[in-house]
Amino acid sequence: MRDRLLALAEAARRDITVASEPSAVEALRVRFLGKKGELSGVLGGMGKLPPEERRALGEVANQVKAEIEKLLVEAIQRAEEAALEAELRGPKLDVTLPGRAVTPGSRHPVSRTMEDIVRTFQRLGFEVAHGPEIELDYFNFEALNLPKDHPARDMQDTFYMDEASLGHAKKADSPVLLRTHTSPVQVRYMLEHKPPFRAVMPGRVYRRDSDLTHTPMFHQVEGLLVGKDVSFAELKGTLDAFVKAFFGSDTRTRFRPSFFPFTEPSAEVDISCASCGGKGCRVCKMTGWLEVLGSGMVHPNVFKASGYDPNEVTGYAFGMGVERIAMRRYRIDDLRMLFENDSRFLEQF
Ligand code: PHE
Repeated sequence: MRDRLLALAEAARRDITVASEPSAVEALRVRFLGKKGELSGVLGGMGKLPPEERRALGEVANQVKAEIEKLLVEAIQRAEEAALEAELRGPKLDVTLPGRAVTPGSRHPVSRTMEDIVRTFQRLGFEVAHGPEIELDYFNFEALNLPKDHPARDMQDTFYMDEASLGHAKKADSPVLLRTHTSPVQVRYMLEHKPPFRAVMPGRVYRRDSDLTHTPMFHQVEGLLVGKDVSFAELKGTLDAFVKAFFGSDTRTRFRPSFFPFTEPSAEVDISCASCGGKGCRVCKMTGWLEVLGSGMVHPNVFKASGYDPNEVTGYAFGMGVERIAMRRYRIDDLRMLFENDSRFLEQF
């Protein structure tokens, strides 16, 4: 039996050292060490031997097994190195090819613009606040001085939610809708804070609108400042400072009287057209001005809905459309480019 073991080791040495492929090495491992392999074959009869002989033979068997294992490990390494070298020499792998460039993503121009608007106001001392996109009619309209049947509700075509689909989510006794502007966050913020304060509220808004210059979802940034004896002059000064910080110090502002139910007086703010410097061009429709935001002094009824005494506090509010500002800023002349997610367009930002 001892001779058979030594012969086995001899055969292993001879065959394993010349194996050149991983699959051949594996076949040899099965042949010598497998469950039904040659080593098991030789050791099968060991149980019948007297204990003394068994111990001596066991020692030899262990040595043989260890040697074969070592031979196999070496053979596997040799075979793998040879395979790799063959590949390097052959046509399959060209290590001189330049690596494939990883294209990193970039922030969408709308996100970028919204973040920059918010940051500009943060530098002016404004906090940042958020409100829900699925909103109650109460906050979106009623609390903002737009009672039911108010004609100004038509200014904003609204997506109402199917009440049945809301299930348990609907608690309050007010219709549920997708907010048409970020102004409801004004009321939510006032209910939770004590003046004086100033805050901006960025977010998505929705309107039943879809054409060349309108998308059913877009972004706004709302602003609200409340305190004692806040004046319209402060509103003008703050918005002028924002415009100059954001669009460049040579940008001029123009305040035009306007109407919003939740502010009185109200003004729309235009900035001088950067494309023509105010002379008039296609971008500004020959007016020299571009409209960028709505604003005004907070209406007493909005203060009342927020639990404030309009005789005690005053404040101003403003709201701006982010897509429009992004278009002005990056000179994009088609709103749809912002929503098509064409990487050839987005890569440029
Ligand atoms: N919510 C108004 C809009 O969507 C903008 C606005 C906000 C106007 C705050 C005045 C004050 O058009």
